[in-house]
Amino acid sequence: MPASRSTSPARTLTARLLLRPFLPSDWRAVLAYQSDPRYLARSHWKRRTSRDAKAFVAMMMRGWRARPRKFCHAVVLRRTGALIGNASLRPGRTGADIGYEIAPDFWRRGYATEAARALLDLGRRLGFTRIEAWCWSDNLPSRRLLRKLGFRQVGVDARFRKVHGSWRGRRRFVHVENAARIGMPPRT
Ligand SMILES: CC(C)(COP(=O)(O)OP(=O)(O)OC[C@H]1O[C@@H](n2cnc3c(N)ncnc32)[C@H](O)[C@@H]1OP(=O)(O)O)[C@@H](O)C(=O)NCCC(=O)NCCS
Repeated sequence: MPASRSTSPARTLTARLLLRPFLPSDWRAVLAYQSDPRYLARSHWKRRTSRDAKAFVAMMMRGWRARPRKFCHAVVLRRTGALIGNASLRPGRTGADIGYEIAPDFWRRGYATEAARALLDLGRRLGFTRIEAWCWSDNLPSRRLLRKLGFRQVGVDARFRKVHGSWRGRRRFVHVENAARIGMPPRT
């Protein structure tokens, strides 16, 4: 039973969240969380300006007009209407890739898990058989989330990058629901 419902790929409801396309006016809420030091410590950016936030929102909005379409959602709390992050499903060469961010004031309440689960449901409804995700090796919350939702690590990007003074690599995960179909070995 899916944990989310969509009236269209552009509007998905979960128990606590609404996933909808970005609006130009969303940049202030994006800037508020993307310039939070707790967020920046987990990102490769050193700082964020209003110009950066506007460019970010414009990029998310362009996703919906791209071919193939990228489903770049703002994550909004249903109870208050506040924008608390983003969650995207982006078709690629081998399937679709998901990505998500939650504002630090709302961390550890299961919101990213709820949004990512909705992206998986959306991917299924759209017919994607392979769903992937990337995350930095030291991003424990994201790694936990991916494993909890049934992703398995399948690779490490050998191109390490220096971020905030230390070297970081990225890990690639694949959702294993269709593992047999895409030729992955069974879990040991
Ligand atoms: C990664 C991120 C989206 C997680 O958001 P969240 O809403 O706090 O996640 P959830 O509450 O759904 O928790 C997911 C898992 O991470 C764990 N977790 C959350 N914060 C943690 C922390 N600081 N340290 C260790 N584990 C943590 C949770 O306990 C949960 O695991 P569990 O169910 O096994 O207990 C958030 O930290 C974030 O936006 N970070 C910056 C951007 C980013 O890293 N995006 C992901 C790119 S791959």
